[in-house]
Amino acid sequence: QMDCWVLSALCWTLPVCFLLHCLCFMFADADFTLLRASLLGGRPEKKLKGLVVWVTGASSGIGEELAYQLAGCGSRLILSARREDELRRVKRRCLERSDLKDEDVLVLPLDLLDRTSHEGKTKAALQHFGHIDVLINNGGRSQRSLCLETRLEVYQAVMELNFLGTVSVTKCVLPHMTGRGSGSIVTISSVVGLAGVPLSTGYSASKHALQGFFNSLRPELTDYPNLVISTVCPGPVQSQIVHNAFTEELHKSIETVGSQEHKMPTSRCARLILVGVANGVKEMWISQQPFLLFYYLWQYTPTLAWFITNLLGSKRVHNFKAGLDADSAYFTKQKTS
Ligand SMILES: NC(=O)c1ccc[n+]([C@@H]2O[C@H](COP(=O)([O-])OP(=O)(O)OC[C@H]3O[C@@H](n4cnc5c(N)ncnc54)[C@H](OP(=O)(O)O)[C@@H]3O)[C@@H](O)[C@H]2O)c1
Repeated sequence: QMDCWVLSALCWTLPVCFLLHCLCFMFADADFTLLRASLLGGRPEKKLKGLVVWVTGASSGIGEELAYQLAGCGSRLILSARREDELRRVKRRCLERSDLKDEDVLVLPLDLLDRTSHEGKTKAALQHFGHIDVLINNGGRSQRSLCLETRLEVYQAVMELNFLGTVSVTKCVLPHMTGRGSGSIVTISSVVGLAGVPLSTGYSASKHALQGFFNSLRPELTDYPNLVISTVCPGPVQSQIVHNAFTEELHKSIETVGSQEHKMPTSRCARLILVGVANGVKEMWISQQPFLLFYYLWQYTPTLAWFITNLLGSKRVHNFKAGLDADSAYFTKQKTS
């Protein structure tokens, strides 16, 4: 009698659970671990209050928005990027939007390519605040060009900036964190750090390199259970990333930037990142649909993912060659002549 009751309960609860998950997934804009943390986990306002957070690439886009939201949480900030005037603008707005005082926000101009300067910059940050709780490796540039047309020096520049620059800053901060036995190193990778996308061979390689580096660093640090290594993989987010992207030649700017409408608002992306940081989430997938589905396909059914990537990818390449917005291949119906 009991067995029969359990069986019939399972028969209707399992499909209901499955349907509920499917429904949630249709409206999800992050992986389930991160969404669970955003619903049930610690609030960034509580967990990040008073912490010293170093954000690279804080002069625009995701890094700028992270700075504002961190200031709102009461975190003390080290803001880095190359453009000091932009960093000062971000600092002013941080102070306007929070109870932070002038000395709580340090503007620390830094070029990720100038690796010899990173040790000195780290010392300056430590001298100012005494310690660093969180490093957010956010600074970087994308790439928009066909492999056949891209000069090797572009690939070198992308790797030097996105990969070696990030590794260099991390290696300066890490001994300080292992010395204290705690800290958080958060690296903004990308969906292209997990998957492949045409027109981004170098960018994707640099983000894959970061994923490999930090996924291998994490198990090296098991003696430090309070030192968290996190990678963040956003899909398309509103920012200056396409405008600033590398092209086939080192000093050539991008011609077609395209619309930002379809992209995730920067504020939502930053909020989810901070939820992940506050709750020690190790890998964060942040994207609206249908991109989120794409992450799951790449993770669990790669053969199907490759098929779809080829299908959409060829439209993207055609658009690019025709001088159109390459991203419109994913979001709008193609005009046929
Ligand atoms: N937006 C997206 O769709 C998206 C998706 C996935 C991942 N991401 C990642 O998110 C991160 C932030 O990008 P974003 O979208 O916010 O783009 P963004 O608006 O172009 O911001 C890039 C930031 O990186 C800094 N930067 C560039 N070169 C630098 C250098 N040599 N040294 C130091 N800082 C440098 C820029 O500041 P300065 O020019 O002042 O130096 C700027 O603050 C990047 O790592 C990007 O790969 C973005």
